[in-house]
Amino acid sequence: MGVTETFAGISLPGHLHTQESLSFATTFQFRPTDVLIATYPKSGTTWMQEILTLMFSHGDVLPAKTIPNWERAPWLEQIYFRDALQDTAARRLITTHLPARVLAPALQQSKAKVIYVARNPKDVVVSFYHFHHLAKFLPDPGSFDTFLTRFLEGTVHYGSWFDHVKGWLGQRQHLDIFYVTYEELHQRLGAFLGCPLGPETLRALEEHCSFVAMRDNTMANYSLIPSEIMDHSQGRFMRKGVVGDWRDHFSPLQNALFNRLYQEEMGDSDLQTMSQRQTSGD
Ligand code: A3P
Repeated sequence: MGVTETFAGISLPGHLHTQESLSFATTFQFRPTDVLIATYPKSGTTWMQEILTLMFSHGDVLPAKTIPNWERAPWLEQIYFRDALQDTAARRLITTHLPARVLAPALQQSKAKVIYVARNPKDVVVSFYHFHHLAKFLPDPGSFDTFLTRFLEGTVHYGSWFDHVKGWLGQRQHLDIFYVTYEELHQRLGAFLGCPLGPETLRALEEHCSFVAMRDNTMANYSLIPSEIMDHSQGRFMRKGVVGDWRDHFSPLQNALFNRLYQEEMGDSDLQTMSQRQTSGD
């Protein structure tokens, strides 16, 4: 494994994507009722899939406990999910890691809703690094320092975190898009979920979407993925689920380099406005 597919200037795992599956994604006929979860990897995608599953089922946990998350919220650009994407459900939940620039035209035509989840990039790079050991469709990451350098250069799979976040932020005027951060989900899940949810749904969300509940739910934790694709002896997909794990991985030098690039790339972007809390470098 570890084959690479290049698309729109970014590298992607060839095991999951082909040029055909990627073109399928960029010309996808979204419906106005569709909800697309867009994220850079390791930013809280699976968490958001669970939250929305529960919201759409009005708190009924049965779908979330009996249907794998990749069928409840199929990946738009991967080769495996054509059938799931043809779902006739009134409201389709779809997931993507693709950059905004390749999906915006199809989305703009459709009025589909987008939920963009961002996470502190320092925690993203740590989580992504560990995930490379687990996921056999990703290349050997080398040392953390090597991986961090490639992450900052934007040459890891799925491309630059900075471009991804800025690209989706830049669609504010053109798409019906809701921004939230992983950190905010941690802090204010209940409040963010808003008023229209009844007490039963909120209770189910709180119970079912906690890190421990999701870690132990085989329909959400990817433990059913065969070991040829994910080497479960290397760790769990639901690894730690905390804010600030980067502090245990970054050296002071790595932190200084990261902060400098963050300032250069994101300094004048209005990332603060994407949610009430800033996904800042710190
Ligand atoms: P860590 O590796 O830092 O633990 P994605 O779903 O986008 O691939 O993101 C995976 C990351 O989100 C992992 O981070 C995982 O543990 C974390 N995560 C998943 N569900 C979570 C939850 N309910 N609460 C907190 N973190 C969660």
